[in-house]
Amino acid sequence: MKILLVGGGNMGKTYADSFIAHHSVKKDDLYILEHYEEKANYFKSVGFHHVFFEAGNYISEMDLIIFAVKPQDSQEAFQAVAPFVASSQVVMSIMAGVKIQAIRNALPTDKIVRVMPNLPAQVRMGMSGFTSSNEVSKEELFSIHNLLNTTGKSLYFDDESKLDAVTAISGSGPAYVYYFMDAMMNKAAEMGFTKEQAELLVEQTFLGAVHLQNIRSLSCQEWIQKVASKGGTTEAAIRRFADVELDKHISEGLEAAHQRAIELGN
Ligand SMILES: NC(=O)c1ccc[n+]([C@@H]2O[C@H](COP(=O)([O-])OP(=O)(O)OC[C@H]3O[C@@H](n4cnc5c(N)ncnc54)[C@H](OP(=O)(O)O)[C@@H]3O)[C@@H](O)[C@H]2O)c1
Repeated sequence: MKILLVGGGNMGKTYADSFIAHHSVKKDDLYILEHYEEKANYFKSVGFHHVFFEAGNYISEMDLIIFAVKPQDSQEAFQAVAPFVASSQVVMSIMAGVKIQAIRNALPTDKIVRVMPNLPAQVRMGMSGFTSSNEVSKEELFSIHNLLNTTGKSLYFDDESKLDAVTAISGSGPAYVYYFMDAMMNKAAEMGFTKEQAELLVEQTFLGAVHLQNIRSLSCQEWIQKVASKGGTTEAAIRRFADVELDKHISEGLEAAHQRAIELGN
């Protein structure tokens, strides 16, 4: 399978590294179109032979073309690539808010897959939601699903509007986790711990809690009950969270992200 990555930035590099590490694609079959010289040179320095600054005839040999440029650069990238795209080629986009219809309008193929990944893809612990146009075959989707899973896990949705909700939950999600961790670290520092101690206390707590939840089939509420004994310290904290309706505020924050994703898509 020959793949072209348009954009070799953070996400482009993440995909290239993950595909190669999982032996999903050979280095010789992964082509990179990156107009920023320093980034293009990086790919050459790590053994990629097909690194291009400009679109060209090589694009017509690709089975899959992945767009990983910023959404504001999408039109320029589509215009550059379009003359070399055929209707049999599959296009995958990870560009936030760029809809399938916009890609259909810009490129001469109807085989389109739209993906919303997240930051932990960089360490192969990512979560991606994806959807596709009806013209993408089951076999093509299967190959793309396997490629996405090299960066973590992925879920397919028939309904494109679900990607706005995916953006609000897992796309932006890592920032919510960091926000909560930051609040805990600040409080730990206030209690007299050094920065390093506060970071270790909080980071290991998150890591351990998520790992435990992953390997045992208990719900979050059941785990809370396991930690919180009657009249104890955990119960005091959880009760205070409930008093200030923290869960409602979290829900409102996620809804704001959801609405913003819908707005940006329009
Ligand atoms: N990072 C995430 O966690 C995340 C999560 C979900 C979705 N996404 C999506 O992923 C996409 C890429 O994000 P990123 O963080 O990887 O961006 P990035 O680091 O800016 O990478 C994009 C690269 O593409 C290059 N480029 C722009 N236009 C080009 C063109 N026409 N031809 C060739 N190369 C071109 C840019 O070069 P210049 O800098 O010179 O313009 C840049 O090196 C975005 O659309 C974003 O919405 C990212």
